[in-house]
Amino acid sequence: MSNLFAKKPMSVLLGEAADSEKGLKRTLGSGALVALGIGAIIGAGLFSLTGIAAAENAGPAVTISFILAAVGCGFAGLCYAEFASMIPVAGSAYTYSYATMGEFIAWIIGWDLVLEYALGAATVAVSWSKYLLELLHKFGIHIPHQLAASPWETVNLSDGTVISGGIFNLPAVIIVCLLSLLLIKGTRESAGMNNFLVILKVTVVIVFIVLGWSHIDPANYDPYIPANTGKYENFGWTGIATGAAVVFFAFIGFDAVSTAAQEAKNPQKGMPIGILGSLVICTILYVLFAHVMTGLLNYKQFAGDAKPAATAFAQTGYDFLQTGLIIAILAGYTSVILVMMLGQSRVFYSMSRDGLLPKFFSEVHPKFRTPWKTNIFFMVFVSLFSGLVPVSDLGHMVSIGTLFAFSLVCIGVLIMRKKMPELPRAFKTPLVPFVPIMGVIVCTYLMYSLPPESWGRLAIWLGLGLLIYFTYSRHNSKLGNNKP
Ligand code: ALA
Repeated sequence: MSNLFAKKPMSVLLGEAADSEKGLKRTLGSGALVALGIGAIIGAGLFSLTGIAAAENAGPAVTISFILAAVGCGFAGLCYAEFASMIPVAGSAYTYSYATMGEFIAWIIGWDLVLEYALGAATVAVSWSKYLLELLHKFGIHIPHQLAASPWETVNLSDGTVISGGIFNLPAVIIVCLLSLLLIKGTRESAGMNNFLVILKVTVVIVFIVLGWSHIDPANYDPYIPANTGKYENFGWTGIATGAAVVFFAFIGFDAVSTAAQEAKNPQKGMPIGILGSLVICTILYVLFAHVMTGLLNYKQFAGDAKPAATAFAQTGYDFLQTGLIIAILAGYTSVILVMMLGQSRVFYSMSRDGLLPKFFSEVHPKFRTPWKTNIFFMVFVSLFSGLVPVSDLGHMVSIGTLFAFSLVCIGVLIMRKKMPELPRAFKTPLVPFVPIMGVIVCTYLMYSLPPESWGRLAIWLGLGLLIYFTYSRHNSKLGNNKP
């Protein structure tokens, strides 16, 4: 049985990274890695949550909420970049903590990342289905809402009808299954598809900003920071801070770049460029997008609107572009689901190679050289969640799980600097210990801003993880049991 705090030796990790012949194929250059990051980042957070955060929390100052959330993610991103350039092995935060904080914490992180990646994919798949229905509606095709909603969801139709409880979210399940099959086919094929989707979604964000800019009505910015209503989360500076916790979801995904480290051509250079480059590009686009959106319409008009980007864009009068906008948004969501599911399979691949999960999860397809059995497992897992669980419950779980992982990565950098200062780092986090400590503080604050039920669910999920660790993983760990 293994020692809970056994650390995976650096030499073994680096050996695994070099040993790509037997494992995953190295096909991704720096450009593809930045695209992978943007692929995972721009999605439901921008196109759906910006309006909600403006209407309920921050008003036009949602731009400041975006900047605050970006600063928090920036601290974590700088820590991720150091780790990813130092330990370029598939598995991301899980692998880093195995080297720094030992097997038990590594297991907790790996288990926790399921919340970020698998449930992240499920959340976006649910939003995807809503935009798809809107698109089909434009073409005169009407799918019954019961077939695109969870049994625990209330759907408000535009004609005022309220449907309480659907049957199953079928479109969400279909997109999850199609993308899982693409992932099995190959990382390069998936990255190629991702590049195409990223170009489409970045184009639509830029078109929105450029065409919308000249239709901004400055009266919508008055007041820029609406006065607080007496409730912590409604407007004023505390509203802006709550808005940051809401739009944090929009930044989730930049770390997914690090899960593909073993498929990067030159990971020491490519990892920091991929992680930080995608974060910077998305922050600039987000702030401009939010500025134009709240300039086109008064923030109060976004209340309860699940498609605020389309509503705001209607103000420009370019009606013929509306359908294109929805198609590009759908493409954007598709790439988020794709990269999240790629990240998930790579984390379980690494955990299984370490013996903490059954071998099944690291079996590589003889022809496609992808961990296909993991892909199939998560196709079923993510389908069940996206088919049955309402989007808001999923979204909070994703945020809390991600913030928890980010905090542990920041702590890991501090430990690593103390314990292994001599190890070569192609990229060094600046201003240590300030940056990692601030990362932990900001992430903890954002976790605190999430609803209490999400804490309970996080505890249940981690409890289940502990059960598996103590009944299976600890007895099968390769490191702990000196297995090859
Ligand atoms: N950042 C991703 C999105 O907003 C998860 O869809």
